[in-house]
Amino acid sequence: MTIMPGEFVAVLGRSGAGKSTLIRCINRLVEADEGTVFWNGQSITGMNPGQLRLIRGEIGMVFQHFHLLPRLSVWTNVLAGGFADMPYWRSLLGAFSAKDRKRALTALREVGLAELAKRRVEELSGGQKQRVAIARVLMQKPKLLLGDEPISSLDAVTAERVMAFIQELHRKRGVTVVLNLHDVSAARAYATRIIGLTAGRITFDGTPEQLTDEELRVIYPPDEEDDRTIANREGES
Ligand SMILES: Nc1ncnc2c1ncn2[C@@H]1O[C@H](COP(=O)(O)OP(=O)(O)O)[C@@H](O)[C@H]1O
Ligand SMILES: [Mg+2]
Repeated sequence: MTIMPGEFVAVLGRSGAGKSTLIRCINRLVEADEGTVFWNGQSITGMNPGQLRLIRGEIGMVFQHFHLLPRLSVWTNVLAGGFADMPYWRSLLGAFSAKDRKRALTALREVGLAELAKRRVEELSGGQKQRVAIARVLMQKPKLLLGDEPISSLDAVTAERVMAFIQELHRKRGVTVVLNLHDVSAARAYATRIIGLTAGRITFDGTPEQLTDEELRVIYPPDEEDDRTIANREGES
């Protein structure tokens, strides 16, 4: 599939369909066994670690369970941003310039959390944590935002708020968005394009309007383990 700049893509599919694998192959959190991922015409799958680091700066990611450093302050988490996955990120903290610190605060203001900058992340609610994660991504000035079920651990009202922030990023900053979502109605409400995955294959690719109930049944096929199979199995034993 090809995703164009400025799209807001929701990936739907049952658990195990391959949503996380798909999204993680894009920034190589998972290494693809086959196939190629291109980013602006360059093969991400063929990049060396140095090239990959540059590209990862352009691709932000948010997760279901936030992936923050719980004992550290909100501000530090936003500052550590892209460095948090590096073993020596702590040594970089002292190196942040006044400008970086100001940018982190601006990012926090954008997600409405500036007043919580000095609080420890572990003291925050789920929705606040996800907004910290979004602020961290904002620091990166990403061109692409990936999200692996970013609202799955949030209550409905909080999920709505987080989706609204992501939509704002998309609209105001032109960030391309690709999110795995559990929630079909959120996909319909926010995405410009929906991709359905069934057992590792794309079975739907269209607009929210084109996603009919019939198409939904293809993306979410009824359980294979239905009464008939169970009855057959019992017959065999
Ligand atoms: N590292 C891995 N090695 C082998 N199989 C994996 C790995 N990660 C996931 N899988 C399998 O790939 C399939 C898709 O998983 P995943 O992408 O996590 O699905 P989803 O996010 O849609 O629930 C599942 O059958 C899962 O068990
Ligand atoms: Mg998943």
